[in-house]
Amino acid sequence: MPLTLQIILSVVSMLPKPIRNTITPDMRIPPIANNPSKVQLARPAHIYVDHPDLDEFAKFAADFGFIEEARTEETIYFRGYGKDPYVYVACKSKDGKPRFRGAAFVAASREEFDKAAKLEGARLGSIAYTPGGGEIVTFNRPDETYFHVVFGQNERKPDPQEPTATHEEQGPFNRPFEKPRQGKFQRYHPGPALVHKLGHYGYVIPDFDNELAWYTGHFNFVPSDILHHWDFDNIDVMAFLHLDLGDNFSDHHCFFLQRAEPHIKKAFCHHTSFEVADFDTQLLGHDWLAKKGWHSVWGVGRHVLGSQIFDYWADPSGFKIEHYADGDVVNCRTPSTREVVGPFSVWGPEIPKDFGDKIPRAFLNRLAEE
Ligand SMILES: [Fe+2]
Repeated sequence: MPLTLQIILSVVSMLPKPIRNTITPDMRIPPIANNPSKVQLARPAHIYVDHPDLDEFAKFAADFGFIEEARTEETIYFRGYGKDPYVYVACKSKDGKPRFRGAAFVAASREEFDKAAKLEGARLGSIAYTPGGGEIVTFNRPDETYFHVVFGQNERKPDPQEPTATHEEQGPFNRPFEKPRQGKFQRYHPGPALVHKLGHYGYVIPDFDNELAWYTGHFNFVPSDILHHWDFDNIDVMAFLHLDLGDNFSDHHCFFLQRAEPHIKKAFCHHTSFEVADFDTQLLGHDWLAKKGWHSVWGVGRHVLGSQIFDYWADPSGFKIEHYADGDVVNCRTPSTREVVGPFSVWGPEIPKDFGDKIPRAFLNRLAEE
């Protein structure tokens, strides 16, 4: 943040709250509600990311717990063990620069997909050549923050027994007053934390208000939690959004937007996040990635909003990517909250100073030393 602006804000922040709020413009998020005129999305499906070194990313992906589903010379499709045919599309960057190219969500029905295709700026395409086939609609958003809607993909049939690369035997947890696991042992071995599905992603974005209005105006994204600035309670700075599925529950957030500080001129993806099975998987997966020499960003810990057990890593291009387990699910009867930006974790290591960076400084320093 430029020094002058920082000084102005710190001076204004010392004034009594009523005066502060009159001086600063009202930057509160207006009420947001789903309705049937909006395109109804069922779930997040996959992300597209360009990497300068595709082979290096493939090594990281295997250690992170993705399964390679298909490969062409320039693209690798990675899947989890859920129903999506793939959850991560890694492409060789044409100009040698890493680039996040947005996430795709599954439309709730053919009708909803057709609605998306009629929205302003929609570009209809085919993904028949990818695992599972299907159709896609792509929207160009500011600063190359693309958004995609897919439909007609052949879903995988997940094994009812969760696959694992770490668990040999795992029964129920014995608690102090109840010991449901009797005469049976918990047995694990080292390995990657296998990924189930894409959980969420989000942007730090200068055009926060307009982009939030675009996503929530056209699709069934609704807020689970809104956070406002610690000094100015009329400036909302963060929205955690879930897909409104009515009575059905969906993840506490599948998408988030964070208002960029004034010195950030271009939107960037803060992180992407993929679900893993449980706490043991998280810790075993953490040890696996650490032993393989990858760069740990923050974790393992437990978030407050969304409750996930989290673990953030930097991939070889510097993108932050998270394993999460045990996240909250919400539905149309779960109240959404608005509160001050607070601690992001209830336990775990202290949040690193470079967590807000597009590419963590510690990662860049490490690269420079190698
Ligand atoms: Fe996350």
